[in-house]
Amino acid sequence: MHSVVAIYPGSFDPVTNGHLDLIERGSNIFGRLVVAVLRNAEKDPLFSLSERIEMLQEATRTYPNVEIDSFHGLLVDYARKREARVLLRGIRAVSDYEYELQMAMMNRKLEPQLETVFMLPAIQYSYLSSRLVREIVQLGGSVNGLVPPAVEQRLRAKVV
Ligand code: PNS
Repeated sequence: MHSVVAIYPGSFDPVTNGHLDLIERGSNIFGRLVVAVLRNAEKDPLFSLSERIEMLQEATRTYPNVEIDSFHGLLVDYARKREARVLLRGIRAVSDYEYELQMAMMNRKLEPQLETVFMLPAIQYSYLSSRLVREIVQLGGSVNGLVPPAVEQRLRAKVV
């Protein structure tokens, strides 16, 4: 396992404590964990790509085997380029399962050598999502304990 490169892909708009929980779990298992931020999402992100990368870098500084990168195009092509054997995804609740199953099966069809590995975040993050975090801050609520303090500050700066 310790020579295995795993990719943890996502939008990370912004990174939450749920993502960080999964990054910690992944970094304990895999030799190298590449957190890959999706570039060019058709959805209009709140944070630019470089802001999302910066927040991830700040929050993962203490993990020597974690790297932050970005990708565009097919995830399987990026994984091949990075010589990764694993795609890491988190499943919070049963509601995530259907979408994740579809993606994992399609990625397997595209690249049978690449294995999708699912991990469960800590229970206190099982209801947490970047979308809800954005919405709460935009509506004036507190996301204390759900995102790193630096991310909360950047969120507040966006909505003033
Ligand atoms: O943060 P998200 O929205 O859960 O991440 C979704 C992501 C980035 C993993 C997915 O949209 C993706 O892999 N996009 C890259 C394009 C691609 O490979 N599409 C086919 C997937 S089966």
